[in-house]
Amino acid sequence: MNPNSKPQKNNIINIGSVKVNSIVALAPMAGITDMPLRQLVRKFSPTCLLTTEMISSEMLMQNRPEEHEKITVFKENEPPIAFQISGHKPFMMAKAAKILEEKGASIIDINMGCPVKKVVGGGDGSALMRTPQLASDIVKAVKDAISVPVTVKFRLGYTAAEQNFMEFASLMQDSGADAMTIHCRTRAQMYSGSADWKTIRNVKKEINVPVFANGDITSPETAKECLEQSCCDGVAVARGVLGEPDLLYRIEHYFNTGEILKKPDIFEKMELLKTHIKDEIELRGEKVAMQFVRKFYPYYIRGIRDAAVYRGALVTETDFDKVLKILDTITEREVQSV
Ligand SMILES: Cc1cc2nc3c(=O)[nH]c(=O)nc-3n(C[C@H](O)[C@H](O)[C@H](O)COP(=O)(O)O)c2cc1C
Repeated sequence: MNPNSKPQKNNIINIGSVKVNSIVALAPMAGITDMPLRQLVRKFSPTCLLTTEMISSEMLMQNRPEEHEKITVFKENEPPIAFQISGHKPFMMAKAAKILEEKGASIIDINMGCPVKKVVGGGDGSALMRTPQLASDIVKAVKDAISVPVTVKFRLGYTAAEQNFMEFASLMQDSGADAMTIHCRTRAQMYSGSADWKTIRNVKKEINVPVFANGDITSPETAKECLEQSCCDGVAVARGVLGEPDLLYRIEHYFNTGEILKKPDIFEKMELLKTHIKDEIELRGEKVAMQFVRKFYPYYIRGIRDAAVYRGALVTETDFDKVLKILDTITEREVQSV
């Protein structure tokens, strides 16, 4: 791969009426891509498409506070943002989509890829790949209910023997989907093995709407490889942003210039983590936030000396000021060792 060659793309993706000035998108992650995390990604990458965590259409209609918390958006500069909904009842999905459109969604994304037992057991997420007619009815119902674009996210298929992504993509397009994201694994794989980007290389021969390839993009180089192998219009990144909220920006920069920017150093990472925690506290209050942010610590301190010791100290701490002291200890020690 020639690091100086640019992808054959013009960095603009038109998703229905929404013009996105980036071919790199933030993929949805339940319990992760909340407002504070999206805000961090947005600071680096002002134009990429962001996606919320999945919002259950049924729970939203039941007015559950946890679903309403997921639709908290930041004060300014969040769009373009896709709100992702899950469910399997077309009328319920349509109602939820309408509410979210009114809350400021630029795009409504439909979850047809979640592999979790509880979700597929109810006929939601990747179970919809086994009920394509229902999936189509959902897209049509949502399209009819709202005026913003509708996108879908799905996998290669339910099992290795049921890889129907090609027919499914065509059906989604015919049903009115304005773009789609394909996680290049089957439901049966969950998150194991490697994402098979090459498998979907023929999708764009059939599909005219934008297609984002997803799975295992952790760096600018893997993003480029994924784009080349999948022949898609863009890439969607999920876990790679954990501890590296600037990853989308570094990928965009590489696509635009061929230059690889360095990852944030430990000092920058500690500052990012502090911002992340402060924003979570603002959203959830200190008590809940200090529990919630524990999952992020390992990613921000990954690779430092004695990471396990610091991780142990951080995940048991409930007081924000004490966490700040631990983070300062980490940076002070690094200053001394430079
Ligand atoms: C913790 C976690 C939560 C996720 N939640 C969602 C979700 O709510 N909706 C969805 O479509 N995909 C969800 N995914 C799948 C990701 O969007 C993505 O397809 C998958 O992680 C592969 O991409 P990656 O290798 O870049 O992480 C989730 C993944 C993880 C790890």
